[in-house]
Parts: sequence; structure tokens; C-alpha cells
Amino acid sequence: MLLVLKSTDEEHGREAARIVANAVRRNPALRLGLATGSTTLGMYNELGRLHKQNALDFSRVVTFNLDEYLGLPPEHAQSFHHFMHQNFFSNVNVDPKNIHIPDGAIVGNYDQYCCSYEQAIRDAGGIDLQVLGIGRNGHIGFNEPTSSLGSRTRLKVLSKETIDDNRKFFGPGEKIPECAITMGIGTILEAKRILLLASGSSKAAAIANAIEGPLTASVTASALQLHPDVTFIVDQEAGSQLKQKDYYHRVLEMTVALTPDRL
Ligand code: GLP
Repeated sequence: MLLVLKSTDEEHGREAARIVANAVRRNPALRLGLATGSTTLGMYNELGRLHKQNALDFSRVVTFNLDEYLGLPPEHAQSFHHFMHQNFFSNVNVDPKNIHIPDGAIVGNYDQYCCSYEQAIRDAGGIDLQVLGIGRNGHIGFNEPTSSLGSRTRLKVLSKETIDDNRKFFGPGEKIPECAITMGIGTILEAKRILLLASGSSKAAAIANAIEGPLTASVTASALQLHPDVTFIVDQEAGSQLKQKDYYHRVLEMTVALTPDRL
């Protein structure tokens, strides 16, 4: 596990974008797993800039988003489809036929639909690099506390905490989604490399529990302890409850010196 601590939002986004951009340069047909949320915005802005100013080419990149609210059509302002088009796809040259985002507008046959999403990931050859955010309750994707650590893409009922966190994005009287379609923990763990981004003090407990706490379905991000290649990029506030920061710092220094390709 690598932990990179950054002080400003700008540095945080730039570091995440640098890792994604390097992965795209090494493999122009990268299979890239993507996340939504305010924490990812700096990374998406920087990737847009690298595309325009440094000709970073996404034309062969294949993307798979983690999740989508059930019941929101793609054009809904709060859908993850809308978020992705607004903040990333409209600024880079990913071929629309290579974009995969779970369809929140489906009705019925959910298992069949979720199996087809898993099959699309398999058909593409699996995910090379998966970007994640983290919820206040330690969720990744929409894998709420008590999700099976072996779970696959499925319909998931959102926790009260997540629904409350999302309330601010919806207008008064507007119905807030109570379910989502999300890749499972088992799906996420099959990605070759994982990059988790966290910022702000509201994520401090989730980050400490995920990295230094026990492996538990109560904090689904703790399942990343099972993965051999995870990089956390956190700001000072999100990292404030970590106990072994000096050790992570030394690991990073040694990695730069001995195995810089890991970065
Ligand atoms: C939602 C998404 C998660 C994301 C989380 C954090 O719950 N399903 O994938 O990590 O939001 O969002 P933010 O970065 O806005 O705190």
C-alpha cells in the first residue's frame, strides 16, 4: 500500500491525474475504472488540461464507471452519467463507444443487467486501473457497510447516511434515490491497480479505518487491504487520524528511490 499525502486540493488532483496520465501513456488502450464525487473533480480538470495542452490521448481508453443511482435517467443533473459528461468526457477524447456507466434507468431484470455489466468488464479484459473515492461511512462505489466483501455488480439499497449526504444536491421536494447499481467489492478487487482519493476532515475516520482498522464489511474500503497494489492520495485533513504517517512517508521515499515505476 502506498499513501501520498498532499496539502492542497490542487496538488491532490494533480497527483491523481499524473498517475492516471502515466498509466494511459504506458498503455494507450488502458481499461480505466472511474468514480464520481467532488473529490475527483481536481483530477478530472487536470486530465482535461493534459489532453488539451499535452495531447494526452484517450481515443483507445475504455472506461467503466463504478455506479449510478437507480431511477435517474442519464440526462438528470444529479446522475453520474451527467457528472461524467460534464466533468470529464466533454473535455477529453474518449470514444463514446468505449464508455460504460451502469444504466440507472433500467426497470426490472436487475440481476440480468448487472451480470451484463460484469460481462462487459470481462470482455474488455478486466480493469487495469480503478479510481475510487470514499464515503463518510467508508464505502467504495455504493458498497454500503455490511456489503459482502465478495459482492459483484448489483442493485444496492443506500444507507441513511449516504442518502442524507446526497440530500444537498437535490431540490426541495425532489425525490432522492434510495438505491443504486454499483460494482461490488469483488469486482473492484479484481482491478490490477487501485487509486483511492480522499479529502477533507469528514473522511478522516473512514481513511484511518480503511487503512489501519480491521478488515471488515462494516468499512468496505478496508477490503482494499487484500489488494496488492493500492495507492491512497489523501490531503492533510483526510489523513489526520492515521497513526503511522511517518512510516508511509518513508515507504514513499523508498519507492521513489527503488521502484519509481510503481508511482
Ligand atoms: C458517492 C459515490 C462514491 C464516492 C462518494 C464520495 O457515494 N458512490 O463512489 O466515493 O460519493 O463523494 P465525495 O467525493 O463527493 O465526498
